[in-house]
Amino acid sequence: MRRDHRLHFLSWDHRKTLYECFVLSKYLENFNDEEVLFKKAFFLNLYDSELIPHFRAEEEILLPLMLNHLDSENTLITKLLVQHVTIHHFIQKLKNENSVHNIRLVLKELSKFLTEHIRFEERILFETIQNLLNDDELNQIDYELKMRYEGKYDSPSCST
Ligand SMILES: [Fe+2]
Ligand SMILES: [Fe+2]
Repeated sequence: MRRDHRLHFLSWDHRKTLYECFVLSKYLENFNDEEVLFKKAFFLNLYDSELIPHFRAEEEILLPLMLNHLDSENTLITKLLVQHVTIHHFIQKLKNENSVHNIRLVLKELSKFLTEHIRFEERILFETIQNLLNDDELNQIDYELKMRYEGKYDSPSCST
């Protein structure tokens, strides 16, 4: 199903992170030590500047609206939360790791997990949200995301 335009900002974030994970999966093996350390810093920065606000938007906007229709124990909700915590865990490991060999391993795990997480959200979670939520609820998502994202995607090539 086509992605509802009111979820576009989150899907654009997904595309950006998926690309970075793809680059890692393809080139990490060939990176020298300096490049591995650069990628560690890059992913820690991506986490602070992009992933944290993105996770918060999903947890604070999407999930509460889903509870209008689903039980809070629903597996979609628990799966999303558990996966977010797992990503926080990988980031902690990455922060604490100083050996290039181990940083390489954590980056590999993190990029694989992030890719699976985004696939789950795009293929299952967002599909469910588009089908489950009514128009007013989807408009609320749109409004709240625009408030949070401000000018992030204000460019001619990013029209909703
Ligand atoms: Fe997420
Ligand atoms: Fe997401």
